[in-house]
Order: sequence, then C-alpha cells, then structure tokens
Amino acid sequence: MHRWLVRLIDAQGRWARPLGDFNHRWLNALFRPIPAVRDLLNGRWLGHPLHSVLTDGPIGILFLVIILDVLDQRPAADIALVVGILAMLASAVTGATDYADTDGLARQRATVHSALMVVSLLVYVASLAVRLTGAGGGVEGVNGDDRAAAIWTSIIGFLVLIAGAWVGGNLVFALGNMVSRHAFRGSGTKWIALEPAELDEGGEIPEGRPVKAKLGLNALVLVRQGETVLALHDQCAHAGGPLSGGTLTDGCIVCPWHGSRYRLADGRVTRGPSVYDQPAYEVRRTDGGGWEARRRVD
Ligand code: FES
Repeated sequence: MHRWLVRLIDAQGRWARPLGDFNHRWLNALFRPIPAVRDLLNGRWLGHPLHSVLTDGPIGILFLVIILDVLDQRPAADIALVVGILAMLASAVTGATDYADTDGLARQRATVHSALMVVSLLVYVASLAVRLTGAGGGVEGVNGDDRAAAIWTSIIGFLVLIAGAWVGGNLVFALGNMVSRHAFRGSGTKWIALEPAELDEGGEIPEGRPVKAKLGLNALVLVRQGETVLALHDQCAHAGGPLSGGTLTDGCIVCPWHGSRYRLADGRVTRGPSVYDQPAYEVRRTDGGGWEARRRVD
C-alpha cells in the first residue's frame, strides 16, 4: 500500500514542484534576515528539529475533539478545537523553517505535506465557525443540523491531518529530511592516513582556505592555520552539502547549500538550518612527512 501512496504523492509534482519553488523563495526571503529566529524555530538549541516535537500536540488534541463530540461534551470539544488549531499554527511555523531549506524531491513532498496541513487547518477553522455561529448562535445554541456539520467537518479535518502526517513521516523516515547525515557513522578513533586533494608548491596543505581530503572511506574538509590543521567531515549534517565548497568566517565554515555554520575547532553547529554538530577530526604529522587523522572524541 505504501508504494501506491508514494506514487500518488509523487504524481502531484505538476503543481507541487512550482508551488514548492515559489514557497522556497518567499520563505527564504522571510527567514534569512532573521537567523536567530530561524535557529530557534529549527530547533538548533534543542539538538533536533523542533517541528517533530510540536506535531504530536495537534494530532492528540484534535483526536480528543472527536471523542468529546461523540460523548456530546460540546463546550469541552469546542475549547479543545480552539487549542488544536493554535497548536497546528505553532507546528506550521516551525515546519515552515525546515521547509525553507529543502531541495528536489524532499521539497516536492514537503509541499504536498504542507498543502494537506493547510487544507486540514481550513476545514478545522470552518468547523469552529459552524460551532460558534450556528443558526441558534453561540456554542450552546447551535442547532442539531449545524452541530452535525461541525462534527463531520472536524472528522474530515482529522482525516486530512493524518494524511498530511503520513507524508511528513515519509519525508523524514524515507527521505531522511532533517535527519543527521552522520547518524550511522562509526565513532572509531583509529589514526588513518590522510590524503589531501591538493598541496601547495611546498608540499603543504594550502593555508587559510577549505581543502578536501580523503580519510579511508570518508571525505574531510581541512583548514590549515600555520602548523595546525583543523578538520571536519566534508558532508554537511543537514542535507549532505560539501563543506569543502564552503566559505570561512569567524572560525567557522559555512555550508554552500543552505548556510549552516560549524565551528572548525570542534564541529559545533553555530547557525542552522542544521540542528546537528559536525564530526570533527584531529590531524597530525606522520614520521614520513605526511598526515594522519582520527575522529575527535568530545
Ligand atoms: S546541506 Fe543544508 S546547510 Fe549544509
């Protein structure tokens, strides 16, 4: 069944791709000038995406609305619906910051996910409006037909919400969006021969700029500062961008894809959208005049 669902999502590309590109532009124009707010909403301070924490709230609360409606607990159901709508809005804001830095298929599926969530939100708002402004006026005064319409709209809203949640789950678990690119990397600390991709005329690692290097199966980015060589894994923890193509600023390297910053000394993420630290490595000279490196332990 999931293969059919994935085909159905990807068949939405005709509208989801251009809409996703449009959303990408205005969301970036909105969030890029306020990096501190974006980091807060991405969840850098939390060490993983804030959106994944907040999404559980509306699903639970809006399921409770259905139960309260079935039990004919009208005021409680209506209050829960208001809280659920507010929780959806909070979740949407955090999701929008993650969405702003998606690419390719992830952006397309994220567009389908967000479109379903917006539809669900609108259906819930309609349900609330019917509850509050039914023929009798006021929560208690809504007549039977209006009450049935209010309940059915919230059930439809919940079904759309669950569909949107499924697409969001697919985005994370099947495509690895906002999952650390180093989640499965071994933490072995054996010294391994390091092979810089380029050397200067003196046979040294070029100074003051990022240089790619090979460390066994891994690619590193090196930055030489005098006798010290600082090294991080080359693949950005956010979405795999090549840090060796990035720029240096204030002791950090800036990813060329979405602008995440990592401290060269220890790999700490200092600016999102990445919410994960980058693996850092120690580098030393070998007796033969070459270099070797090993994973740095915190
Ligand atoms: S890949 Fe997104 S910031 Fe590096």
